[in-house]
Amino acid sequence: MIGALVIAVDGPAAAGKGTLARRLAAALGLPYLDTGLLYRATGRRVLDRGADPHDAAIAAEAAAALRPEDLDRGDLRGPAADMAASTVAAIPAVRAALLEWQREFGRRHGAVLDGRDIGTVVFPAAPVKLFVTASPEERARRRWLELQARGVAADQAQVAAEIRDRDAQDANRPVAPLKPAEDALLLDTTALDAEAAFARALEMVRDRLNFLDAIPAEA
Ligand code: CDP
Ligand code: CDP
Repeated sequence: MIGALVIAVDGPAAAGKGTLARRLAAALGLPYLDTGLLYRATGRRVLDRGADPHDAAIAAEAAAALRPEDLDRGDLRGPAADMAASTVAAIPAVRAALLEWQREFGRRHGAVLDGRDIGTVVFPAAPVKLFVTASPEERARRRWLELQARGVAADQAQVAAEIRDRDAQDANRPVAPLKPAEDALLLDTTALDAEAAFARALEMVRDRLNFLDAIPAEA
């Protein structure tokens, strides 16, 4: 059962989705996919061409031409890359081009995937869906600390404003907006460090799987 298990981890920016999803995947022996990288790499390709990330035709072409090695680029994070990712992510043709890639990845051996629409669109039938949140202040603090650690000088209020704008763009777009699936389990990590969030998430995953196992299979 664990072999084909898909776990969806969604939530707003800097909530700790990636850190949590990676640890869950390692603990459960599942592959991990950071789906934000697909949108980041698409946005980066558009910027590299000197084009506007709002240009739907160019962005769709960039998404269709994406290759696995594009996800390993070192320049996919930072304010410009963050916003370019969110802007191309609002374009339906971009999302369509990236959908099958994500489904293929998860179907093959099961997986933990993190993003915005994994539980609502990519794997709506995933047995386990976590929606990870933290207060906007705490998320801004976490992203700011990450920038500090990378030696990037940043203003905390500026980081907070960028996160707020990006979350608003992600939550208000018509296609695959950021929102919890109806059957998502909510995990507020505002007062939890990464270790405590992982322990709680693992408990939630186990409870959910035990609960599903206890339901008799349909005749
Ligand atoms: O993927 P997402 O943007 O949601 O967040 P992330 O990149 O996994 O994590 C953002 C930062 O928050 C990382 O530096 C984590 O160490 C830290 N953090 C966390 O992931 N979980 C907590 N409960 C607390 C802090
Ligand atoms: O790590 P962080 O939460 O800051 O961002 P990310 O997960 O790397 O995603 C970057 C951007 O890609 C988001 O702001 C979304 O606009 C988009 N995205 C999406 O639309 N759907 C996904 N499944 C994953 C990311």
